[in-house]
Amino acid sequence: MKLRGTMSIDHKGHLLIGGCDTVELAHQYGTPLYVIDEAALRQKAREYRRAFSHYMPGSEVIYAGKALLTSAICRIIDDEQLSLDVVSGGELYTALSADFPPERIYFHGNNKSPSELAMAITHRVGRVVVDNLHELKLLQETAYALGAEVKILMRITPGIETNTHAYIQTGQFDSKFGFPLGTKETIAAIECAARRMPNIRLMGLHCHIGSQIMDLRTLGLAAEYMVRFMAGLRDQLGLELAELDLGGGLGIRYYGDEEPPEPEEYARTISKTVISLCRQLNLPIPKVMVEPGRSIVGEAGTTLYTVGAVKDIPNIRRYVAVDGGMADNPRVALYQAVYEACLANKAAEQPTELVTIAGKCCESGDILIKDIMLPSVEPGDILAVFSTGAYNYSMASNYNHLPRPAMITVYRGISEIIVERETYADLVRLDRIPPRLAASRKTAAGNMQSAASR
Ligand SMILES: Cc1ncc(COP(=O)(O)O)c(C=O)c1O
Repeated sequence: MKLRGTMSIDHKGHLLIGGCDTVELAHQYGTPLYVIDEAALRQKAREYRRAFSHYMPGSEVIYAGKALLTSAICRIIDDEQLSLDVVSGGELYTALSADFPPERIYFHGNNKSPSELAMAITHRVGRVVVDNLHELKLLQETAYALGAEVKILMRITPGIETNTHAYIQTGQFDSKFGFPLGTKETIAAIECAARRMPNIRLMGLHCHIGSQIMDLRTLGLAAEYMVRFMAGLRDQLGLELAELDLGGGLGIRYYGDEEPPEPEEYARTISKTVISLCRQLNLPIPKVMVEPGRSIVGEAGTTLYTVGAVKDIPNIRRYVAVDGGMADNPRVALYQAVYEACLANKAAEQPTELVTIAGKCCESGDILIKDIMLPSVEPGDILAVFSTGAYNYSMASNYNHLPRPAMITVYRGISEIIVERETYADLVRLDRIPPRLAASRKTAAGNMQSAASR
């Protein structure tokens, strides 16, 4: 078991994160509980910023909010001078309500609605990343109606298949995202955006080839394809674009001895590819942007659960059920993701038994970890699942009407709530009983009463 970020084990054998005892946190805040190691998050953000400004001065690191977005996370990202990628009106609203500077917001998405585009224009976001021709036309119309000019990037699918789960591959041609690289339709759309849309200012291109990528060569290849395409646009259309956004995708450690590349190696690979190729093609070096999400917050997150039922099926399996599951972490059911965990209250004990961690949802597929070695597990133990910072809370649901867990930051021995735990009242807050149903209940109650009085 490899500890992440500021994790350590104290003299009681308890797991500490950010100087806080996770067993005490579980008792104080209840479980399931998302715990964010703020120092680890800030550290990653700084590593990214330092590496990219060292290898590519003038570059920009844009945090992909889809990985984890709350008001406090927006504040931390702003504090660390990263920009922000949002992908819906809801994410944009969250960022704006946390006072995130709109000029450092990039607005993504493959099907932005007219009202989302108007919201982005009205709030003057830094860039809209245009995904398709329909959106390009809609954006021009909306910007014209609002009397505004919008700076855009155009999203290109470079035709690269990454070695990652199919659901998180986005760079292949057969994708719902982006304009396919190099087709005549794509080139025509780029020319149209650059020359025939008075309210659009085309700043550059964007690509994002997938997520949880461990091999830097694939990310380097995407950079190469994009630079070559930019040179082609210069040659064919006489168009020199100033910006190149290479998306996110760097992988993290989920289990075992996985060794994901560091931001420093990533920045070095990208800069080597972009700078040498631009020189070779006699192309001005564009401003480079990257959009890491998972690799900034992923390892900074840990989820705490309380163990409930422990069930032995002799010669088959020992199931350990916890008080959360696929509702707070759908990644296992969705992508067959593999996680690592420890017992927070027995963190110093040697693993002695093979168990399977089950969630509490009514699905046989609600398994958080299949086959993990742990010390002897008992009801009441606190299970800490590692690397849950990205795409857990942001993908959580209320399946089985489980209230979503609280989220806290831990930092230098202090814990603070950044998302309150949902209550049962929250679960019915938006429910409405139409008068027709309310009336039928009254009639039924009235009938019962009069029957009883007869
Ligand atoms: C356009 C875009 N940028 C950035 C990201 C962030 O990717 P990751 O969290 O793998 O770094 C994604 C993830 O889906 C994305 O779609």
